[in-house]
Amino acid sequence: MATATRLEDWSPDSWQRKTTLQQPTYRDPGALERAVLALSRLPPIVVSWEVDALQRQLAAAQRGEAFILQGGHCAESLDETTSERIVEQLKILLQMSLVLVHGLKKPIVRVGRLAGQYAKPRSADTETRDGVTLPCYRGDIVNRAPFDATSREPDPELLLRGYERAALTMNFVRALIDGGFTDLHHPEYWDLDFMRHSPKYEEYKRIVDSLAESLSFFESITGRALHDSQRVEFYASHEGLHLHYEQAQTRYIQRRGRWYNLSTHLPWIGVRTAGLDHGHIEYFRGIANPIAVKVGPAADAAYLRGLTKVLNPDNEPGRLTLIHRLGAKDIDAKLPGLIDGVRASGAEVLWICDPMHGNTESTKSGLKTRRFDNILAELEAAFRIHNEMGSRLGGVHLEMTGDNVTECTGGARGLSDDDLARAYRSTVDPRLNYEQALEVAMRVGRWPGAR
Ligand code: PEP
Ligand code: CO
Repeated sequence: MATATRLEDWSPDSWQRKTTLQQPTYRDPGALERAVLALSRLPPIVVSWEVDALQRQLAAAQRGEAFILQGGHCAESLDETTSERIVEQLKILLQMSLVLVHGLKKPIVRVGRLAGQYAKPRSADTETRDGVTLPCYRGDIVNRAPFDATSREPDPELLLRGYERAALTMNFVRALIDGGFTDLHHPEYWDLDFMRHSPKYEEYKRIVDSLAESLSFFESITGRALHDSQRVEFYASHEGLHLHYEQAQTRYIQRRGRWYNLSTHLPWIGVRTAGLDHGHIEYFRGIANPIAVKVGPAADAAYLRGLTKVLNPDNEPGRLTLIHRLGAKDIDAKLPGLIDGVRASGAEVLWICDPMHGNTESTKSGLKTRRFDNILAELEAAFRIHNEMGSRLGGVHLEMTGDNVTECTGGARGLSDDDLARAYRSTVDPRLNYEQALEVAMRVGRWPGAR
């Protein structure tokens, strides 16, 4: 992978010559420079051969031979880098992937929104409360959430604290996987206690039992133990929003003759920062990682042509993923145009559906929420439309947690607006809770269009 040649007119900091949106303003540019320098000397969080391996998997998904499950918190928090939170997150992703393998009958590639998902785009630069105006909270590597002047001041040291938490997270994830946490021979390890009381428990149990049966059948026929032949792989991704953080972790790999962003395997560009002439596109076009871009209802054919040309001029398989996030209301009207627009440009991409960010709304009491039915409706429409148009949906992108939160309404327990206050923990967007996330996986596995 990463066959394209190194770009002569690009460097890890060439984005600084462009207009770049959603970046914090630091009071002391010298302190920022020192933090970037310190970060650029630290070891990478991931390595280039893992990044290349993920691109091969994304290429397989583009051909319909694998399916991508990408998910995690809207924003990770530095304080919540605990073993419980990481285990929960890994478990829910693994359990969903198990359910998806069973339903879709193809390999599932697991990509967490984790180990670096610390910077958030905001709709305004400042926030005003009771006549006091402060910088808005932009995520834990920029500033702190409490509404006081000290907390909201962007602090360059937080870039280093974020890097450290990301490294601790990846270290623990790797140890769990190497230590057999994901061994299919012990599906009971994959249970979470409160799942036993879920209305969906019987269905989940049937799927796990059937997989365990297939596994022992495979092993008795082949005389080989599965874990010898296949190790569970797990990849990291985050929105590459804070370009000083990304730049500092961009390394030249001599052997490949290319620059890699080694802060994560799959960085993506959010919908608010994907302007063709802007700094994010400039930075992303020069790195060898597979990359993703969120696309919303405003994307037209000219934009898609420009995007695919600048980010994947050689049409490398697996290089460019487009994550559409249109909303249940708009997907029927907008998705066919996106598919046609990319087709007309001659580009080949991997399509993933994010059914979360086009479906955000506010309750009467002012809480941000999403309705489970809208999330499912958007996903189902995405599979149907890609199918009808001879295209392919190769994955889903979800905001979810293995915790028992109440942030999205609906699902098997029928959570209502009034239930949300009980366990609303997200500092930014509402996530699917454990049961809701598993239910999404069960539904996707059953839709004929998804195979
Ligand atoms: C996100 O993924 O948390 C996000 C901000 O998404 P988008 O750029 O699609 O709005
Ligand atoms: Co979000």
